[in-house]
Amino acid sequence: MRILKKIKIASFFVGILIIFWSCTNLFSNENETQEVTVIDQKVENLLSKMTLEEKIGQMNQYNGFWDFTGPAPKGGDAEKKYKDLKNGLVGSMLNVRGVKDVMAVQKVAVEESRLGIPLIIGFDVIHGYKTISPIPIAEAASWDLEAIQKSAAMAALESSAAGINWTFAPMIDISRDARWGRVMEGAGEDPFLGSKIATARINGFQGDELNSNFTIAACAKHFAAYGFVEGGRDYNTVDIGTSTLYNMVFPPFIAAKNAGVKTFMNSFNELNGVPATGNSYLQRDILKEQWDYNGFVVSDWGSITEMIAHGHAKDGAHAAEIALKAGSDMDMESYLYVSHLKNLVDTDKVDIQLIDDAVRRILKVKFELGLFEDPYRYCDLEREKEITGSKKINDAALDIAKKSIVLLKNEGDLLPLKKEGQKIAIIGALASDKTSPLGSWRIAADDHTAVSVLEGMSEYNGNLITFSKGADLTIGKTEFVSELKINTTNKSEFKEAIRVANSADIVVMVLGEHGFQSGEGRSRTSLELPGVQQELLEEIFKVNKNIVLVLNNGRPLAINWADKNIPAIVEAWQLGTQSGHAIAKVLYGDYNPSGKLPMTFPRNIGQVPLYYNYKNTGRPNSPGPEIVFWSHYSDEENTPLYPFGYGLSYTTFNYSDIKIVNSYNSNQKIKVSVDITNTGKRKGKEVIQLYIRDKYASITRPVKELKGFELLELDPGEIKTINFVLTDKELGFYDNNGEWLLENGEFEVFVGGSSETTNKINFELK
Ligand code: NOJ
Repeated sequence: MRILKKIKIASFFVGILIIFWSCTNLFSNENETQEVTVIDQKVENLLSKMTLEEKIGQMNQYNGFWDFTGPAPKGGDAEKKYKDLKNGLVGSMLNVRGVKDVMAVQKVAVEESRLGIPLIIGFDVIHGYKTISPIPIAEAASWDLEAIQKSAAMAALESSAAGINWTFAPMIDISRDARWGRVMEGAGEDPFLGSKIATARINGFQGDELNSNFTIAACAKHFAAYGFVEGGRDYNTVDIGTSTLYNMVFPPFIAAKNAGVKTFMNSFNELNGVPATGNSYLQRDILKEQWDYNGFVVSDWGSITEMIAHGHAKDGAHAAEIALKAGSDMDMESYLYVSHLKNLVDTDKVDIQLIDDAVRRILKVKFELGLFEDPYRYCDLEREKEITGSKKINDAALDIAKKSIVLLKNEGDLLPLKKEGQKIAIIGALASDKTSPLGSWRIAADDHTAVSVLEGMSEYNGNLITFSKGADLTIGKTEFVSELKINTTNKSEFKEAIRVANSADIVVMVLGEHGFQSGEGRSRTSLELPGVQQELLEEIFKVNKNIVLVLNNGRPLAINWADKNIPAIVEAWQLGTQSGHAIAKVLYGDYNPSGKLPMTFPRNIGQVPLYYNYKNTGRPNSPGPEIVFWSHYSDEENTPLYPFGYGLSYTTFNYSDIKIVNSYNSNQKIKVSVDITNTGKRKGKEVIQLYIRDKYASITRPVKELKGFELLELDPGEIKTINFVLTDKELGFYDNNGEWLLENGEFEVFVGGSSETTNKINFELK
């Protein structure tokens, strides 16, 4: 077995290195190398003391299971898990949170098990912990890497103060299909932007020192291709070719690996017939061998067991065998490693070296986190009290929230609103909602803790504010696990909303999806405004046309009617705890919107998946009136409603003088420069985007590919020159065998404020 041979050779060399180190202290001048080696040595020492059962225990992760600070559980699953913990058969727990609880489980592991190996405590810190920042797709719309990194750092600060030391984030799956509920959790459709954001988030979570009390280990997920589920239906099958895998799916994962991410999570989906969890090609050949990744891989929740339903494993033992051989190091909630691996080793079905390799990886991260020095380092009640919900964290949440807003339309400069003398009607159930803006994946946050739009707007007291809900969005429960029921019939409050709108100067309508209409398990077949909201919008429009539509949503919506009729549209996603403050700041012009869409907004769900970096096809254009034989729909345009990279400002920008400055050395092939002028009356920020088109290649290339961007702030009338450098890295691509190619030929370079820019210049790569 090839993999096994490699692991054996690697372990042999680690052993030799450690002996050598002990004798010569070889690396005494290289602190970093020495540190890594010291940890390797500690890992080997510990490993040599562990029984097979204890090793397997490190590969076992349990969900939180009893009232930790109360008496030990009796009977059932909880009692078994508790015993396993005492017997050193648990390496990690998830969903245990808060200093008291973490301390209680950690105490059992450290003080009652034979070797006292500390647990690594995992949690889905996806966009904040108790204080919630915007959902990740919203943050991606800021294109502001510094703010995104800071947001992750604040999430690490707050969650680490609650005892957590490992987040299952960032989700770096490229997502092209707006039906998929989990688009809210990623950075959108583009691998270049996705890679930059992956790096920023990992740097934010992990910081410079992983063993500081303020940082936590990150997890790049879901490896791989989860965003390509057929029909956008969660957990569904994925069947894509190698070139898509390498050019679209892998780049953010490579960036994550290069950023030093400590863990990977595999994914629920199968890829080309093999579930990712049991996929040796992905986890061993690509990740651990080709990319030389030395962190550990955790399975997704129960995904080892799910290989039986996938039709890939015969039973639990078989699933455990496949997963381990494929490189899944830790079993999240399948209980299969702890149940079967020992027997699989005893019967020579799996080699102990595979187990040693997995345990080494897990222990290494625990050492790097500093858990062996002090297993309670994240457990300080005082610190938890001081940091949770602190001003510093809320200020950062507000900062990124306002930067995440995208202005989609602003006809007649309806926005920003005047601060005085206006009668403003606020309409929509989401306008007063204090829970929905928290979005999906905010497990530790309490309901009703977001600042609503109504509250945010009411803090500006120069105008007269009136409010009417208009109609409920949901009926009954809106809990994390529940399937939401949407109000599709009750319009009894329309009348009141119409009355309120009728007497207002401006109507602010807050419409869209509930926070739990996107996220895991929440795919949709419609991208329209849910329930009776579209009807409400049209009814209000009949009595007052001065409408500012504020959208709340976790995915691109198809809002054709609104785009045609409503003068001002603001994309406000689900912005977290500070949502209402951020929206009010933008509506009143205290923050000039600077966001750009990280995902294409279609006109119609039938166009989905719709993305800017599509292939041209052999028939891209209409050959003439009434001729049907070209790549199009007979009932809808091909173009999106709002393209990737699109977003307006209260000022305007002009791009001029785009030129190729030179092609000056063997790697830095092309330098492109462009002048940007703020042609409006306000200070504002613009995301300058550079796209290339490789006009012909052995594997066809997309019509546009983002290869650079810069966020620039300009005063009115100010002009700046921006330079971009294109190297081999930006100009090459992977072929159908996963080989990197750089081909000579003609390229176009586009620079502008969205993916639809037509400012371009050509060059030839010789
Ligand atoms: C399942 C999700 O797919 C994954 O992203 C998450 O981290 C785990 N559950 C743990 O909650």
